[in-house]
Amino acid sequence: MQRSFTFGGYETTVTMTSRGRLWNALDDRSLLVADANTAAYLPVDRRLHEVPAGERAKSWPELERLLAGLLDADLTRDASVVGVGGGVVCDLTALAANLYLRGCRLVLVPTTLLAMVDASLGGKTGINFGGFKNIVGTFYPASEIRICPETLTTLPEREYRSGLAEVIKTAMLGDESLFETLEQEPERVAARDAAVLERAVWSCLDIKGSIVEADLTETGVRAHLNLGHTFAHALESVEGLGAWSHGEAVAWGLARAMELGGAAGITDGAYARRVRELLERYGYRVGPLPEAAQQIRAAMQKDKKRRGDRPRFVLQRELGSTLVTEVDSALVDRVLRGEGRRDYG
Ligand SMILES: NC(=O)c1ccc[n+]([C@@H]2O[C@H](COP(=O)([O-])OP(=O)(O)OC[C@H]3O[C@@H](n4cnc5c(N)ncnc54)[C@H](O)[C@@H]3O)[C@@H](O)[C@H]2O)c1
Repeated sequence: MQRSFTFGGYETTVTMTSRGRLWNALDDRSLLVADANTAAYLPVDRRLHEVPAGERAKSWPELERLLAGLLDADLTRDASVVGVGGGVVCDLTALAANLYLRGCRLVLVPTTLLAMVDASLGGKTGINFGGFKNIVGTFYPASEIRICPETLTTLPEREYRSGLAEVIKTAMLGDESLFETLEQEPERVAARDAAVLERAVWSCLDIKGSIVEADLTETGVRAHLNLGHTFAHALESVEGLGAWSHGEAVAWGLARAMELGGAAGITDGAYARRVRELLERYGYRVGPLPEAAQQIRAAMQKDKKRRGDRPRFVLQRELGSTLVTEVDSALVDRVLRGEGRRDYG
């Protein structure tokens, strides 16, 4: 199965394929980029550049090492650099592909659920710098994305659940029937049932793809994809990266976004309850953390990507009805102190 998207003049073709066909018609001159956990999926006869597993690969020294690797491999502009891994490998490889020769062909093979439904699609590249996550980066969509759901069978449970939070978020943005599947079939979802996963991945790609087609560089509607993320990023920075997985923080942030929307009189109470119940069903921690309220608030103020002085929040009226708005600080404090749930019971 295949779909194509056009992001700001770049065409991205996404193919869902089997392990046996994953490397079909890949240019011999390609350089593959992977980490120790994803190298097992590579074809044996290809050139490999290995990066460390995990967030530390998204660094300036690793970017420089990868650019040197591309130079050593004598990669020409029409040859492909192929990132095989999670969001980390995708983000780093995409940035190097954009910089090398002012842009060489980029193929991404996402191997985590998060990278399949989110990081591989939409052109955001990046590394962490100066203590800030994703503060250096560009927009450079992949020419091709090859998705092989079988790779998810080796993914650690915590990483799987991290991606699942983004699936829930995306269903909230625009797929009622996926949301219902998540509500009604938790066992199949938890068991990584191939049919359920394939459907969820396509749905998320369709939703994200159509949003990014309308707004590649995040001047408008792309911000909707950040539902729950203002809270999540602040939590991650207070608790230290790694204490909560990104998805766990996103799930916590989705619960706070529901409460904030309720407190502001925007979010339908029954919908907010439904979201909370779904998050709880999948075992996410969704309770408030009043003891960390002040620190989380301070972290929101320090967010380098905010516009203006006041944080803006992505909120929802109901499933599929999303808006970006400033909210009275007193309401944000109320939610962080743990008083938000009273607004929707
Ligand atoms: N560009 C974007 O639009 C975008 C969107 C969301 C997130 N991101 C970025 O993505 C990153 C997080 O991505 P992630 O959650 O995929 O984490 P990750 O890339 O660190 O992968 C998580 C872990 O799983 C391992 N792994 C990957 N695939 C595996 C497999 N099939 N089997 C076994 N182990 C496997 C990796 O080696 C790593 O240890 C963050 O840096 C975030 O900023 C980017």
